[in-house]
Amino acid sequence: MNDAVVLAVETSCDETAVALYRSGAVIAEALHSQVDIHRYYGGVVPELASRDHAGHVRAVTEQVLAQWDGPIDLVCATRGPGLIGGLLVGLTWARAFAFSRGLPFVGVHHLAGHLAAPLADPDFDLEPPAIALVASGGHTLIYDLPRWGEVCVLGGTRDDAAGECFDKGARMLGLGYPGGPAIERTAKNHEGPVPRLPRPMMDRGLEMSFSGLKTAVLKQVQSLPEPLESQQVAALAYSLQEAIVDVLVSKVRRALKETGRDRLIIGGGVAANTALREAVAALQSEGIQTYVPPRKYCTDNAAMIAAAGLIQYQRQGAESLDCPAKARWDLQDFWPATV
Ligand code: KG4
Ligand code: ZN
Repeated sequence: MNDAVVLAVETSCDETAVALYRSGAVIAEALHSQVDIHRYYGGVVPELASRDHAGHVRAVTEQVLAQWDGPIDLVCATRGPGLIGGLLVGLTWARAFAFSRGLPFVGVHHLAGHLAAPLADPDFDLEPPAIALVASGGHTLIYDLPRWGEVCVLGGTRDDAAGECFDKGARMLGLGYPGGPAIERTAKNHEGPVPRLPRPMMDRGLEMSFSGLKTAVLKQVQSLPEPLESQQVAALAYSLQEAIVDVLVSKVRRALKETGRDRLIIGGGVAANTALREAVAALQSEGIQTYVPPRKYCTDNAAMIAAAGLIQYQRQGAESLDCPAKARWDLQDFWPATV
């Protein structure tokens, strides 16, 4: 089953993504982004997201299937966590595909997908045991990953996710949606001194908090006369990015130290951020082997769901076609640690 061809569908948030994957490499992939729909509202509108997934999942799947005339061995879809309407669209579509072709099916945990994203890169050469950071729009967690298919939560945010902090900060600065890329672009324009923002919970083990950081940005914005000058916006964007990266890197450094691991994998949309990628790469000078996926496999995609689904299939075999979608779902229930 190692060279199985896997078809995977991801619809948990605002991308309709389908991929065909075979151990360690992507055969074909396609993605329809809903960014233009949600931009007007400044964030993802769940009902519009589900409807748009329903309207595009067939075309995106056909785009992928048109690039492959070989057999398919396994079908996967994101089962959760995520927006329930979107999850139901992708899950139902993929299960119907599996049913119609008599293929085995696996429902995949979205964060297992972010952790397995490196496996979609043929150049990936850093295997577990490792520390893994997932920083996305909905989650920010640090895991111990002793081997593929097993995780132990070491820490995470108590409130907002790192991506949420980027998104809310961007909204306060009038930079639009999605916030992470907008903050990154704007931060590049800053010149001169920047306001200092707090680094919450630095002394609290591997716990994190980003909601206070968001409030600190709001206070800074309110203390300045309106409208903000572009240099003030750039300085705040820079400072916010710096604070988020600082917190994330300090916490993973601590996790590495506490566990004695010397390998680090990061993933999730925030891992597309250049400042974070550079700060993580710099850990190599401290004797840590690091791996950051190509940007397109940091943000939501279906190749990572296929990679995680194949691992799960090898662990547990196929799943019932009746498995329900889960808006909330603990990764340790999907990939429990054995010790
Ligand atoms: O993993 P993802 O695509 O979807 C979720 O599972 O949430 O992550 C989306 C998040 C958003 O909050 C977005 O602003 C953030 O990732 N993001 C970034 C960048 N690109 C995406 N944050 C900082 N810098 C970026 N370049
Ligand atoms: Zn995601």
